[in-house]
Amino acid sequence: VDAVATWATLTERGYVIVDAPDEVARALHADPWQLAAELLAGGVTMVERHPILAVAQGRSFASTMVHTPLHTDSQDVRGAAADVQVMACVQAASEGGETLLLDAWALLSTLEHADPRLYEALFDRVRRFRFVFGDLDGPTVAVRGGRLCFTHTPHPQDDLGARLAPFLDATPTVHLRIEAGQILLVDNHRMLHGRTAFRDPGRRFVRLLVWTRRPIDPPARILARARRIGQPVPDDEAERRLTATLELLRGRSPGVLAEQLDVDEAELYRWRNAMLRVARQALQPRRLRGWLRRDAPSHRRRSSHRR
Ligand SMILES: [Fe+2]
Repeated sequence: VDAVATWATLTERGYVIVDAPDEVARALHADPWQLAAELLAGGVTMVERHPILAVAQGRSFASTMVHTPLHTDSQDVRGAAADVQVMACVQAASEGGETLLLDAWALLSTLEHADPRLYEALFDRVRRFRFVFGDLDGPTVAVRGGRLCFTHTPHPQDDLGARLAPFLDATPTVHLRIEAGQILLVDNHRMLHGRTAFRDPGRRFVRLLVWTRRPIDPPARILARARRIGQPVPDDEAERRLTATLELLRGRSPGVLAEQLDVDEAELYRWRNAMLRVARQALQPRRLRGWLRRDAPSHRRRSSHRR
């Protein structure tokens, strides 16, 4: 896979499909970080892997066959949703199960003229977005953790969601049938995605959510208008050490890492142990609440706080 060409198309159009049967096979079992780094130019800072497979007791869209309304995958790492959603197709449904994509930047440029008040509200009005992974607070379009993000739940319950609905219906949606051995990469800050219903229990994808070192360039006009929530992730020495420690924890060779970073292996182990010590402190129930409040002022409350 040509990572540079892939990135260029992703930037221009919001999505790209690559034929990559070997990579699809590896998406199931091999290190997903390694795969993500190969697919995307410029390095990755976090990767999640999710099986997309209908199961008997499934409740999420990922584990059922139902129609999935347009939405963003907005679980965040330090404020920002994943930059890129990678969908590796192991087996397509015999019928249905097609991917739907809608370009939110195009939607915004329509709205700016068609309904200026709604356009402004998307930048200014703080909403609560209720997702399975927890709630997000903030405007629909905002710079979250240094990334310009459009946020949309599958079933918005508020008036802004209702006002937005006819425009979503009127915006052209891309229908994609991804075949076995193909990988779809989607700009998750720009494109809303959904899926048509299907009945074939053999449909199987592997989804990677990838946080990249550098963002896909957003439109300057929208970026300038958006409010900023949270702090961008710094690109400093501590960040490089954190990345190295995460690599160590997921099984990269300490010797190789130490050589790459030009440090002693003993230093690597000190970083790992320091990180684990601080992580344990942060995860103590009483500390965690204060930590989340400090770390992400005013834009997020976990669903557990509601109970
Ligand atoms: Fe999704």
